[in-house]
Amino acid sequence: MNGLKIGIVGATGLVGQELASIIGQSDLVIDDLRFFASERSSGISINFRGQDITVSELCESDTPNLDYLFFCACPRISERFIPIFSKRGIVCIDNSSKYRMQDGIPLVVPEINSHALKGHQNIVANPNCSTIIALMALMPLHDAFELTGFCVSTYQAVSGVGKSGISALMNDLNGDHEASTKVFGHQIVFNALPKIGDIDETGYSTEEEKMRNESRKILDKSELRISAMCVRVPVMRAHSMSIFASFKKQVNPREAEEILRGSKSVDFCGDNSFPCPLDMGGKNLCAVGRLRMDSFVENGLSMWVVGDQIRKGAALNAFQIMLILEDL
Ligand SMILES: NC(=O)c1ccc[n+]([C@@H]2O[C@H](COP(=O)([O-])OP(=O)(O)OC[C@H]3O[C@@H](n4cnc5c(N)ncnc54)[C@H](OP(=O)(O)O)[C@@H]3O)[C@@H](O)[C@H]2O)c1
Repeated sequence: MNGLKIGIVGATGLVGQELASIIGQSDLVIDDLRFFASERSSGISINFRGQDITVSELCESDTPNLDYLFFCACPRISERFIPIFSKRGIVCIDNSSKYRMQDGIPLVVPEINSHALKGHQNIVANPNCSTIIALMALMPLHDAFELTGFCVSTYQAVSGVGKSGISALMNDLNGDHEASTKVFGHQIVFNALPKIGDIDETGYSTEEEKMRNESRKILDKSELRISAMCVRVPVMRAHSMSIFASFKKQVNPREAEEILRGSKSVDFCGDNSFPCPLDMGGKNLCAVGRLRMDSFVENGLSMWVVGDQIRKGAALNAFQIMLILEDL
């Protein structure tokens, strides 16, 4: 049997590196793996399964013989290259926000809406990381009680902006605030910043709009009421969030707990315990704790959810999409 031919654009970044590691640790047979990044990284080597692979700059004229090309760079790079390579028959799986809300392009969390992959046109979008983490916790409850809306406040790690976020936090810890001010607009150490992305005329930030619009598209529920407040905190890795969800059917925390305990898509922490971002880095599953009746809305549940945004929020989700496409 032939193995897969895969390329990673942004192979030197956090998501690209995580994806290479997931592919490397899988039992997939890989016939060819190509690493692409910017001109800055061209020529460096990255080890994959004991073999050094040289990183090159992606060019429009390249005609790599690949089955899948993962885009783990910025939306501008996706916009420039995906139309070209998807037309050449390569399935492009995009981690950037470029194509997520475009009609006809599947936006997929495999545990939730893998059916949307049918009939794809060689472009598949990976959702926003916080959206994936929230929906991993909400989906089993939605199946049981029918979600009508949710309010969410996020506590997002600095690595959510990429490798520059990690070095900014480290420099900040050493008293050098220049990088954090450049990357986050403010000092991040000892701080919490309630602005991720630009704020529009409605007062919501782009990250908050992504949570609302992408959740509606993934769940195919355009009427879902969603309000988000997205906050950057000085955590290295894994996004946390408090979610207040309302449901059509009557809910009770004991039944909800049973449902979450029985779900393969989340870990449930019982007895008032809770997951912390420090413990969640590198984990495949998102985790839920502090589950209780919400005292603000009828048929409401409150919970604390944490997930590794580089792994399930990006690289692992994209990898799972490829596995499903292989089975279609
Ligand atoms: N970090 C997260 O938690 C997370 C979660 C979900 C989605 N995402 C999305 O995933 C994408 C990658 O994020 P990241 O966190 O991995 O960012 P990152 O750590 O900053 O890495 C960015 C990657 O893009 C490459 N790149 C930059 N300019 C390029 C060019 N002109 N041509 C080709 N490659 C270029 C960089 O290469 P050089 O090393 O050569 O500069 C690097 O490999 C972004 O769209 C981000 O929004 C990130």
